[in-house]
Amino acid sequence: MLVGQQFYIKKPIALIGFMGSGKSSVAKLLSEQTGIEFVDTDKLVVQRCKQTISEIINSRGESAFRKIEADILDEVTRDKKIIVATGGGCVESAVSRGALKNCFVVWLNVSSKTAADRIIDFSSRPMFKDIENAENVLAQRNNRYEKCSNVEIDTDGKKLDDVVQEVKRVLIRKGILQQ
Ligand code: S3P
Repeated sequence: MLVGQQFYIKKPIALIGFMGSGKSSVAKLLSEQTGIEFVDTDKLVVQRCKQTISEIINSRGESAFRKIEADILDEVTRDKKIIVATGGGCVESAVSRGALKNCFVVWLNVSSKTAADRIIDFSSRPMFKDIENAENVLAQRNNRYEKCSNVEIDTDGKKLDDVVQEVKRVLIRKGILQQ
């Protein structure tokens, strides 16, 4: 469903950031407002494996999950003009980090406290163990999110719509999103 005018992009737009940063919700709304297709790598992993993310991680381990996630990210970012909502831990994989180099990357930054408040379904997020653990994981990942991204947008204390407008404005200003 396109709400408004059709936009164009020259390369994929990838949204990265911790669990609860709003990647999937922002990608969906941005897609509706620009007419650009979006994909969610978590959903593609589940479709491909016919297992939930928790099942994959519990039965095959995190590194197997990261490999599947990286293969999918590599595929979707090859030459498609799409918006990609990534999984929060994709920056842990060198292959995924390589795939992100084909994209304009927006880092949706979030504190672990806000992330915990936003996440409704913890069962589908086996990597979010508790707030203390989330803080440690986030501290380790922030450097990677920063290095992998072209632009950082703080999402703490902001409504979803406001974040989407901010992302859109930045993409237009940077010449990535064009009418
Ligand atoms: C993960 C984040 C999840 C999902 C998986 C692992 C992580 O994606 O890929 O549970 O390690 O941060 P979201 O960021 O979309 O929740």
